[in-house]
Amino acid sequence: MLTAPAYSLDGGRSLHRWLRDMRTHHPVHRDPLTRVWTLYRHSDITRATADPAAFSSELWRYLPGEMGTGDLTAGNLTAMDPPRHRLVRDLVSRAFTARAVAGLRPRITAVTDRLLDAVADRGEMDVVADLSDPLPVLVIAELLGLPEEEGELFRDWAQRLLSFDRSDLTDEAARRRVTDTQKELLDHLRVHCRRRRADPQDDLISRLCRAEVDGERLTEEEVVNFANLLLLAGHVTTTLLLANIVLTLDEHPAAEARIRADRALIPGAVEETLRYRPVIVSNMRVTTRPVTVGAERLSAGQFVSLSFISGNRDEQHFTDADRFDVHRDARRHLGFGHGVHYCLGAPLARLELGIALEAMLDRFSRFEVTDTSVDYYDTPGVAGPRSLHIAFRHH
Ligand code: HEM
Repeated sequence: MLTAPAYSLDGGRSLHRWLRDMRTHHPVHRDPLTRVWTLYRHSDITRATADPAAFSSELWRYLPGEMGTGDLTAGNLTAMDPPRHRLVRDLVSRAFTARAVAGLRPRITAVTDRLLDAVADRGEMDVVADLSDPLPVLVIAELLGLPEEEGELFRDWAQRLLSFDRSDLTDEAARRRVTDTQKELLDHLRVHCRRRRADPQDDLISRLCRAEVDGERLTEEEVVNFANLLLLAGHVTTTLLLANIVLTLDEHPAAEARIRADRALIPGAVEETLRYRPVIVSNMRVTTRPVTVGAERLSAGQFVSLSFISGNRDEQHFTDADRFDVHRDARRHLGFGHGVHYCLGAPLARLELGIALEAMLDRFSRFEVTDTSVDYYDTPGVAGPRSLHIAFRHH
């Protein structure tokens, strides 16, 4: 079969069989229809992510018409190459310090407790709607200094952006809905950013407005786009990963029992889920010059998809790669990417996921997934459930 089976078909089971075959027989493959190359092996993917000079993230340079203007991507780290990427990343990391993130612990714990209190009497919940969707958006809103009551507004925007289906790619009205939603969100952030420029507070937006490296500051457009990036990159990813953790533990009761007996295994369970069931399936680069990958010669200007989900199951890199093992040294998984674009929010995501999982284990003596068949997103590049119903018992 030439086309990959959709993840949404059966939660990735058929896809993983197909990917194993591609890693073995066509590790560097060009889709004859889309003409996009895909790298399936861990070693080829990490080689590409480590070489931004040859594998550029500035895809917009190679896109036709309006999409091919850099303005839309100003401040969007994921669409930038060094040296500009290094400069902007230094600026934002300075404002996005480990200390600022660790300082969010009490707030994340309080939000998690509030969300779990709200479902305590029900004995059942939708992990996505009741916990993993609201939690990260409230945390990012807090980080950016947005008023708490705006949390709902941001959830709604994110939901509308995420409900973009595979079938919508050819639907003009659906594409317009996404562009309009995106514009509403950016306009809102611009107003917030202007308010903070005039009256700085102790929040990320204010720090971003002030941050300076080598005499350079971010433009207003860059600050706004970066805030937008955080809301998109840090929300849905965390939502789906927490749901994937619950789903995976439900399928592996022995692993859950081990974590219950030894909470020090929680970080390992989070890392192993990022490997075993990542939410970002793949990401794109474009070649800037002719380059050889494996047995293939790619010319300049070729779009290259990096299959993180495949690299994470590469048996040449991970022993017994199809086994979920919370004791595994899963570092160098590709769940947060790799190289210069490695997830900036990884420490925050780890903190949120660890707190949420621990709270669930503390409160519930048992939980089990009650959906007979899980409803997965059909959004390209993303893997995770739209909803995940569980029944639970208190300690
Ligand atoms: C489990 C949750 C998360 C997952 C699975 C995830 C995954 C990823 C991946 C795979 C990349 C690399 C993309 C590439 O190489 O092209 C990335 C980059 C990024 N992530 Fe995350 N992410 C998560 C949470 C967060 C959070 C909480 C934030 C911030 C609040 C965040 C902000 C970013 C940013 C700004 C980048 C771009 C970094 C750059 O290009 O230099 N992420 N993330």
